[in-house]
Amino acid sequence: MWNAAQYSQFSNERDRPFFDLIAQVPLAQAATIADLGCGDGHLTAALSARAPNARIWGVDSSREMLQDSVAIPERLEFVHCDLREWNPPQPLEVIVSNAALQWVPDHAGLMPRLAGLLLGTGCLAVQMPANFDAPTHAILRELTSRPQWELQGANEPRHAQPLGWYVETLSDLGFQVNAWETTYLHVLHGQNPVLEWVKGTALRPVLAKLEGERRAAFLRTYGERLLEAYPAQSFGTPLPFKRAFFVAVKDTR
Ligand SMILES: C[S@@+](CC[C@H](N)C(=O)[O-])C[C@H]1O[C@@H](n2cnc3c(N)ncnc32)[C@H](O)[C@@H]1O
Repeated sequence: MWNAAQYSQFSNERDRPFFDLIAQVPLAQAATIADLGCGDGHLTAALSARAPNARIWGVDSSREMLQDSVAIPERLEFVHCDLREWNPPQPLEVIVSNAALQWVPDHAGLMPRLAGLLLGTGCLAVQMPANFDAPTHAILRELTSRPQWELQGANEPRHAQPLGWYVETLSDLGFQVNAWETTYLHVLHGQNPVLEWVKGTALRPVLAKLEGERRAAFLRTYGERLLEAYPAQSFGTPLPFKRAFFVAVKDTR
């Protein structure tokens, strides 16, 4: 289950890649836009501010995340739906998906499906974390594989493909692809801020399987390992975070 308050604790750091992504997207003239995996919708609202003439749909499968979203009649609508099943009422000029598709399986099937929702000149803009091998995730995999926790299979599997795979797949589907990767170096504050960060994302499926003292013990063990892997400095706790971006535009040449 998603927890909007936990996720938005680091909203400055988590919002930045969204704006870096949409800086590459031709939004101003777009008439129909979807934000897939839109979360609480505050970034979908930012899309609406940048594309004042567009009809925009924010789609998310979590009622908890959507509960604070604010619709604007005739312009901005939120839909509770799995993005793999949602069909827009009109063909889309732009699809944006920020920090969501890494939770969705079968990207080989997903890319052609999303491409098929776009108009002839449409644009698909995606950002996903590329931190599967970072200590946050490697330590989590190591701990959950220990029999004592009975957590085998609790981790989210790796759905995201290497960035080059998207360039090749979308080029084959008739897109021109602008792709890049960036490592942000966030400086976090607090007692164990990296633990707080992952509680909002990668740790969720694991915590969902733990209760009471087992949950507290797991958090202590994982939290100590994170403090070792991400030591606090005088200015805060640096968290390197790699992200992959692609903006694919239908190739009309
Ligand atoms: C990390 S949050 C990002 C939210 C938002 N895009 C943002 O950047 O603030 C990921 C979101 O993807 C949604 N999500 C995951 N799988 C989904 C699916 N199959 N269909 C629709 N939404 C999904 C989750 O419910 C969650 O709100």
